[in-house]
Amino acid sequence: MSRLHENDIIGIAGQLPQYDAALKKSLGYTLEEIARKAVGCREHNPGFRTAVIPITGGMGLIGGFSRTVSHILNHCRARAFVTDEPDVAGLQEAYKKGAEIIFLADDFICSAFSTHSCVFSDNGYATGVGFAAALEIMAGKAPPAEVLILGAGPVGSAAAAYLSQAGFDVIIHDTDEEKTRCAANKIAGVKAAGNIGDLKNYPYIVDATTASGFINPEDVTAATKIAAPGMPLGVTEEALAIACVFHNPLELGIMAMYFDCVHQLALLNIKSGTEGAGHER
Ligand SMILES: NC(=O)c1ccc[n+]([C@@H]2O[C@H](COP(=O)([O-])OP(=O)(O)OC[C@H]3O[C@@H](n4cnc5c(N)ncnc54)[C@H](O)[C@@H]3O)[C@@H](O)[C@H]2O)c1
Repeated sequence: MSRLHENDIIGIAGQLPQYDAALKKSLGYTLEEIARKAVGCREHNPGFRTAVIPITGGMGLIGGFSRTVSHILNHCRARAFVTDEPDVAGLQEAYKKGAEIIFLADDFICSAFSTHSCVFSDNGYATGVGFAAALEIMAGKAPPAEVLILGAGPVGSAAAAYLSQAGFDVIIHDTDEEKTRCAANKIAGVKAAGNIGDLKNYPYIVDATTASGFINPEDVTAATKIAAPGMPLGVTEEALAIACVFHNPLELGIMAMYFDCVHQLALLNIKSGTEGAGHER
């Protein structure tokens, strides 16, 4: 995973309603609807009390990160707040304030935990299935076809598994041959590709790499659909003007993590405000 910069997320909170309205118009789905589809969450969302804890370890805080995550969560009707204190003190504060779900991230892992039960969601997984669900929506009623997954890290692997289960013919490629092989061996129905040939031949692509601007205008057509969680974006400005590209740096992954937790809690019959958490102490 690449570490986000303040500039990547600066406008997210203020633009969420407009962004969501534009998505509903173009894809027929809001971010919440895509996130729910991705993790199979049909439950009514009662709004779990959710703490976002700033973590100062590693390379330190990313300006505005916790506030933006909290905004995204409130946009999908969680009852989110950022703890006043960071790190361990923040974790204690979250418990004392009755948090039922806790979000925290360092330079390598972004995770959500429930204080109710042994339930958690990893951002790599949630982002992978979230963008895979978006690509499935972009494909519309067309019969599932060949999809190329670029990048075999946690995000690409989760997207590959989702799309394979959805009936797509999934090919995975990583510049690291061992990772390509490993992913194809581990994920049912997924084929490894050492050489992918002409990108233009793939109607559907997931860019789950860390590479910037490597998908050029000659690699796409007006029919190419790309779901691109990769940060930075692998699609150049010129290619963006031709292909249909779905990209956002944080929003869908965070919502998919939240609904992944909500869904797991529902399976355990745990509702918001259930005894044991969700009450200020
Ligand atoms: N948009 C979001 O909400 C969101 C959330 C999480 C992660 N991300 C981003 O998604 C991407 C994938 O995350 P990850 O945790 O799986 O990362 P990762 O670093 O574990 O995996 C990325 C893989 O891409 C491979 N790669 C790099 N350039 C490539 C290329 N040109 N072609 C094929 N493979 C290439 C690398 O070898 C690596 O295995 C990263 O850019 C990460 O920052 C975005």
